[in-house]
Amino acid sequence: GLRKKEVNVLCLGLDNSGKTTIINQLKPSSHLNHLGPLSPEWKHVSQTPAQEIVPTIGFNIEKFKSSSLSFTVFDMSGQSRYRNLWEHYYKESHAIIFVIDSGDKLRMVVAKEELDTLLNHEDIRSKKMPVLFFANKMDLRDAVSSVKVSQMLSLENIKDKPWHICASNAIKGEGLQEGLDWLQEQIS
Ligand code: GTP
Ligand code: MG
Repeated sequence: GLRKKEVNVLCLGLDNSGKTTIINQLKPSSHLNHLGPLSPEWKHVSQTPAQEIVPTIGFNIEKFKSSSLSFTVFDMSGQSRYRNLWEHYYKESHAIIFVIDSGDKLRMVVAKEELDTLLNHEDIRSKKMPVLFFANKMDLRDAVSSVKVSQMLSLENIKDKPWHICASNAIKGEGLQEGLDWLQEQIS
């Protein structure tokens, strides 16, 4: 049959925002998957077993397939000491998933700084790659809405790239499908 189009997706955002939890939700072996948050279309082909999620060291690479695309996801560490690794993957990436902890109002300004640095990077600035934002941890009692998150990050200033923001609860898998469907539409 036809070969699926191969796309590299960079998953970025501060430490503890939920990047690995989101990526893990795509694994069929995940114990969270009985909740069935994702359609069977999203098939995972990595052999990595689902495990207790710990802070990422450096980065992890995960592979997923949808009906038309073959994804390689770079799940980067958000810890400040590893953030300098991010830029090495900008050139070869086709899309970005940027995850925000909606409950962490104190560090929203840090998230904005990192986002601005990313968007101004020479390898990103000129590219018309889609950026998907997850306003994650929407289940937290003091979480701000996705509209508020987009205001705090000044997303309306992004004029040269298609972008989209979804509220999500990565633990339950809520909101992930909507975001991934949007991303897939942008890429294919
Ligand atoms: P680094 O790898 O350090 O960059 O962090 P990360 O962005 O990969 O975060 P990770 O997925 O490790 O999640 C951090 C913590 O947040 C874990 O304890 C998760 O269980 C929790 N978490 C992730 N998503 C959600 C969510 O939607 N709601 C709540 N309440 N907790 C979440
Ligand atoms: Mg992680």
